[in-house]
Amino acid sequence: MDETSVRPTGRTDQSADGGVEPLLSLRGLSRHFVTRSGVFRRRTTTLRAVDGVDLDLRPGETLGLVGESGCGKSTLGRCVLRIDEPTAGEIRYRGRRGAGYADADFDAGFDADVDVARAAGRELAGYRRDVRLVFQDPFGSLNPRMTVRQLLGESMRSLPSEERTERTIDLLRQVGLRRDHLDRYPHAFSGGERQRIGIARAIATDPQLVVADEAVSALDVSVRAQVLNLFGRLQAERGLAYLFISHDLSVVEHLSDRVAVMYLGQVIEIADKDTLFTRPGHPYTEALLSAVPQPDPRVQRFRERITVRGELPDPTAVPSGCPFRTRCLYAETVCAEQRPPLRMLPDGQQVACHFAGELSLRGVERLG
Ligand SMILES: Nc1ncnc2c1ncn2[C@@H]1O[C@H](COP(=O)(O)OP(=O)(O)O)[C@@H](O)[C@H]1O
Ligand SMILES: [Mg+2]
Repeated sequence: MDETSVRPTGRTDQSADGGVEPLLSLRGLSRHFVTRSGVFRRRTTTLRAVDGVDLDLRPGETLGLVGESGCGKSTLGRCVLRIDEPTAGEIRYRGRRGAGYADADFDAGFDADVDVARAAGRELAGYRRDVRLVFQDPFGSLNPRMTVRQLLGESMRSLPSEERTERTIDLLRQVGLRRDHLDRYPHAFSGGERQRIGIARAIATDPQLVVADEAVSALDVSVRAQVLNLFGRLQAERGLAYLFISHDLSVVEHLSDRVAVMYLGQVIEIADKDTLFTRPGHPYTEALLSAVPQPDPRVQRFRERITVRGELPDPTAVPSGCPFRTRCLYAETVCAEQRPPLRMLPDGQQVACHFAGELSLRGVERLG
């Protein structure tokens, strides 16, 4: 085969986007957990929670990350934040900003090109102010013995107390809370309000990227819509990028520009939201979409539900070749023999399937 006809792997998306450099790039990111068992703990089992993930996130965009529970979304998010240590691979962060950083300590022209997996000291501290996390359970992540003032003031310790209070009140306003909430403790708030406090704490350092891990999953539907709107508004005001993690496609659909789908530690499809929903490229994405309830009963009635066959395999025994092949309606011999790499299709979506572009898969109809 002619060399030039082969698509380069590990591309950095430069050409497709008119030269926009990604804010965050993952290359071959892996996190394997090794457990020992048996007599003398001689037997080891390896669980590949994240296994060779390539992903780019552009400045100001929302990348949704979806997949069934246990597929490695949180582990990936934790590696990005360096709460967890990757087993292998690269995490590159290119933060560019001018003056006006929230904290004088870090104000001196933070112009970062951070090798995240190896960063330490001041560089890691600066990175951790630029890339923030919002958890699923704000109650679990907010110290119950600290008031809102203390919780939000933590990252502004170098400021004089008056200025800190002023900024804290301003943060509360930005997330739809009030000045008189300042001296209350987390238990005095509803779930939605606590999530707003968690969001305020994340943006207190004026970050460029927020990783939201199941950030609205625990909320009632009406409260969830309000918090999603808050995420959208903050992004518009601040030019934030989001890595928006959820097991629920309908949550991700609301905010995402692009969506990455994970299955057993691997990213099996990345596409623009509209492409992914209307023309899925991977059989697993098709199956996930068919499980999303449609708000319009007329649409729901004409939709056939494509059920995924069988159970999710044991994550310590991921099938050879394509991880999805044991449940795939379209699997053939080659699928057990070779792991399909992520391939770029003509309309820009990337799909890890030997038959990508050849199958006629069904998406969901979207109204309006
Ligand atoms: N600290 C750990 N030790 C061992 N296994 C883990 C650990 N953390 C996560 N796992 C396993 O890694 C896999 C991915 O987990 P997780 O990243 O939490 O998935 P998700 O967020 O998609 O539900 C699961 O099989 C989980 O049991
Ligand atoms: Mg999770």
